[in-house]
Amino acid sequence: MAQPKEFPRPFATLPEIRRAAHARLPREAWNFGDGGSESEATLRRNRRHLNRLAIAQNVLVDVREIDLSTSLLGVPLSSPVGIAPMGGLVLFHPEGDVEMARGAGKADTLQWLSGATGWPVEDVAKAGKAPQMFQLYHHGDRGWVGELLKRVEASGYKAVALTVDTQHYSRRERDILARWSPRKAMEIAPNPRGPFHDYQMRLTWADVEWLIKTTKLPVGLKGIMTVADARRAAEMGVRLIWVSNHGGRQLDHTQSSIEALPPIVDAVAGRAEVVIDGGFSKGTAVLKGLARGAKVVMLGRTALWGLGADGADGVARVFEILREQMHIAMGLCGRTKIADLKPDLIFRAD
Ligand SMILES: Cc1cc2nc3c(=O)[nH]c(=O)nc-3n(C[C@H](O)[C@H](O)[C@H](O)COP(=O)(O)O)c2cc1C
Repeated sequence: MAQPKEFPRPFATLPEIRRAAHARLPREAWNFGDGGSESEATLRRNRRHLNRLAIAQNVLVDVREIDLSTSLLGVPLSSPVGIAPMGGLVLFHPEGDVEMARGAGKADTLQWLSGATGWPVEDVAKAGKAPQMFQLYHHGDRGWVGELLKRVEASGYKAVALTVDTQHYSRRERDILARWSPRKAMEIAPNPRGPFHDYQMRLTWADVEWLIKTTKLPVGLKGIMTVADARRAAEMGVRLIWVSNHGGRQLDHTQSSIEALPPIVDAVAGRAEVVIDGGFSKGTAVLKGLARGAKVVMLGRTALWGLGADGADGVARVFEILREQMHIAMGLCGRTKIADLKPDLIFRAD
């Protein structure tokens, strides 16, 4: 078998890291990570709608000191980006979630651990030095979730976000066409997945109420895309509204997350913190999300390619480049701290 092409270290750019991951990963894993659902319209729309926004170029501001630090749910963060939860990381690196935690630690970057983690939550917590939060899949009944949450709390995760956009697993047609089952392939990881996937189909607001009462951690909802749902969540005490369409992997032909964001931020009106993901792959894109009102921008595939290209070092390099990009872009648009990134910075260009 031909050896994958080697890339010089450190990687030079984010697209180079993506290319290195593509060269190294088995084709099925690449397609599982890179792909979306059905026609992939949502996947493309996320990126297209980010690209059509422009950043106002304010000049003649002293930008020698630029501060990227912020916080999420009271947890201090050295930069306004985090790693979105991703299941199946064993397909991208033999030590999957644990290796991702090492990379997040090196990069001092918030890591959301997937509820479909391939490793026990305790092992991932031990491997991570940066802040960690937990994404919950209701892959079992309330008894199962309650037990899992006790372990999550005891391991030091700082928040829990229930993913609510997976009532059904979508048709990921790249995998279907290859007659390849990601679920089967990821069984090589040590942590068993939850016993009852279809439980998610029955979730309602009553389960959110139950979750808020059951855990000591601040509760978020991941996969909120409408004003009505965001308002209802904020009213019932949800602390984190995560605007997301699962990176174009669930409902095809839905809105882009960057377009869903501004009215949600308005409706929530400071009652909860709002974060976003979907198509963010460079520093300027992160600035657009923050300027439109997200507290933090989460990155899925961009971090995943770091893991696939070079494990923890690859992940750390992704966030090093991103920070440099954010730093430069902030200087060039005349803003020196995250709180200065306001909607007036962004306009529709084409
Ligand atoms: C390989 C992969 C696995 C994912 N697994 C999960 C998961 O276990 N739980 C979840 O809530 N979201 C999951 N997501 C969605 C991400 O959390 C995030 O919403 C999405 O990747 C953001 O879009 P981006 O990849 O364009 O940054 C996954 C995404 C990818 C690419």
